[in-house]
Amino acid sequence: MDVIYSVTDLKQHIKENYNNMRIGFVPTMGFLHEGHLSLIKKAILENDLVVTTVFVNPTQFGQGEDFETYPRDLQSDMVLAKAAGTHIFFNPSSEEIYPLNSSTIVETEGDIVANLCGTARPGHFKGVATVITKFFNIIRPDRAYFGEKDAQQVAVIKKMAAELFFDVSIVECPTVRESDGLAKSSRNSNLLPEERSQAPLIFKALEEVKMEFLNGNLDTTYLLQILRYNLFKITHGEIDYADIVDKKNLVKIDQVQSDALVAVAVKFKNVRLIDNITLKKEVTSC
Ligand code: PAF
Repeated sequence: MDVIYSVTDLKQHIKENYNNMRIGFVPTMGFLHEGHLSLIKKAILENDLVVTTVFVNPTQFGQGEDFETYPRDLQSDMVLAKAAGTHIFFNPSSEEIYPLNSSTIVETEGDIVANLCGTARPGHFKGVATVITKFFNIIRPDRAYFGEKDAQQVAVIKKMAAELFFDVSIVECPTVRESDGLAKSSRNSNLLPEERSQAPLIFKALEEVKMEFLNGNLDTTYLLQILRYNLFKITHGEIDYADIVDKKNLVKIDQVQSDALVAVAVKFKNVRLIDNITLKKEVTSC
C-alpha cells in the first residue's frame, strides 16, 4: 500500500502507475471499522486500483460539533486499510485540501437538503459536497463507495455527481451493524457506557416501524408515533429528528407509496448518531 499525503503526488502517482485502469474510491474520515472495510472490499472486487482517503473534513462540521473530538487513529487505519486491500492510502492535511484563502464551495440546494441532516446540520452538506468534488477531481474515480447509513449524503452526492457531469458511479453499500443492531460508526467510540447500552434502541425503534409497515400501516403520522414512542425509551439521549421521507427526493410524505426512508438522529452528550431503514412496498430491507 502506498501512503500519500500531497495532492500533486497522488495525481502523479495515479497517472504514472494506473493509467486507464478502473479506479475505486473509498472516502472516509478514518477510525476505520467494519463498515468502511466492507466498502474497501467491495471496491477491490470491482476495480483495478482502490484509493482510500482518510481526512477529517473540517468544513462539514458546524460550530459546537465534534470536529476536535472526532476519533482518530491513523496507525490502526493504515493497518486495516492495507489488510482490506487498499492500494493507495491518501491522508492529506487540511492545508493541502483547503489551501490558504480557499473560497470555492460546492452546494446542492432544494428539497434534497430541506429535511433531516440538511436542516439539523446547516452547512454540513456544503462541506461534504465540496470535499467530495475535490477528491473526484484529484482521483478521477470510476466508482465511489458510500454507506447507506448516511442516506442523505448518498442522495446529495448522487445528485451532485450527475449535475456536475462527473464520470463516476456512486455505489451504495448496506449498513454494517454491531450484533445488538447498533449501526457501526466511528463516533460510537465516544459514547458513554450508559449511552452505548441504550444506543441499540435506535435500530429497535426503526424495526418497530418496519413491523407496523409490514402489517399494512402506510400512514406516516401513525408510523412516526410508533417511532417516537420507541425512541423515547432512550433516556440518555434526545431525538434530534425522526422523519419519514420519499427515498428518492427526501421530501416528507403522508403515506408510504414507493420506497420510503425512515431516518433518525439522536443526540447523546458528546455524540450524535444517525440511522435509517428503507420501507419498500414489496420487499423490505435496511
Ligand atoms: O461519510 C463520511 O465519512 C464523510 O462525510 C465523507 C464522505 C468521507 C466526506 O468527508
